Amino acid sequence: TRRVRTRDLQAAKERGERWSMLTSYDQYTASIFDAAGIPVLLVGDSAANNVYGYETTVSVTTDELLPLVKAVVRATRTAFVVADLPFGSYEEGPVQALRTAVRFMKEGGCQAVKLEGGVRVEAQIAAITAAGIPVMGHVGFTPQSEHQLGGYRVQGRGDAAAQVLDDARAVARAGAFSVVLEMVPGEVAKQVTHELTIPTVGIGAGPDTDAQVLVWQDMAGLRGGAAPRFVKRYADLAGVLSDAARRYAADVRGGEFPAAEHTFH
Ligand code: KIV
Ligand code: NA
Repeated sequence: TRRVRTRDLQAAKERGERWSMLTSYDQYTASIFDAAGIPVLLVGDSAANNVYGYETTVSVTTDELLPLVKAVVRATRTAFVVADLPFGSYEEGPVQALRTAVRFMKEGGCQAVKLEGGVRVEAQIAAITAAGIPVMGHVGFTPQSEHQLGGYRVQGRGDAAAQVLDDARAVARAGAFSVVLEMVPGEVAKQVTHELTIPTVGIGAGPDTDAQVLVWQDMAGLRGGAAPRFVKRYADLAGVLSDAARRYAADVRGGEFPAAEHTFH
C-alpha cells in the first residue's frame, strides 16, 4: 500500500467518484481514520478550537500546529495528509507563504498545505505550487476572516456568488490541486464543481461537490452543544466518554476498581 496522491483525487473526479476528508490532530484518530479508508486527513487550524480551546482560529500558530501534523503523519500509512497554514503565516506575501509551507512539508512531513482565500492569495498559491508543494485552496466562508465577515455566515448568496466563483477560479489558476468550499449555497458549489477541473471539497456546500469534509469531533459527536446545520453526527462520543468517566469515578469511590485482576503481587 502507498499513500494517496493528488492524481488519485483528480482521477476520482474524472470517474465521478466522491471521496471524504476528515480533520485529525492526533495519532489515535489518525490511525483509525487511515484504516477506515478516509483518503485525505486535514490537520486543520480548527485545532485552535478543537484541541487548544481558543475561541477562534486566529490565535493558533505554526509552532502549535506542527507537532500535531507530525503525529498524524507518523500514525498514517495511506492517507494524504494536508496541513493548514494558520492565520498570520502567509498573508504578508509569497515569500512568507512559501517559507511556512516548506516548514510544514520538511518538519511536519505532510503531503500538502491548505490556505484560505481566493484572488487575494493567488500569488501565495502560485509561489508554493511552483516549489513543488501541492496546495488545497479554501474559499467561501473562511474562518480566519470571521471578524471581517461578521461571524459564521453563508457566503455567495445572490450577487455575491460571483465573488466565490472568482475566488475559486483564482485558486485553480494559481495551480491548486483542490479547493474547499465552505458555507456556500448548494447551487453555487455545484456551479464551481462543474466549472473547475480540480476536485472541490464541500463543508456546508451541499451534495454536489466532488468531496466532503467535516471536523472529526463534530462528525463523531465529541463536541457538545448545538452543531451547525451542515454537520451530521455519526456517533455520540461525548456521551460515551462521559459515561466511562462517571463509571470509573464510581468504581473508585466504591472500592470496585482496582480489582484482583488489576493488581500485581
Ligand atoms: O480547519 C479546518 O477544520 C478546515 C476544514 C473544516 C475545511 O479548514
Ligand atoms: Na482551517
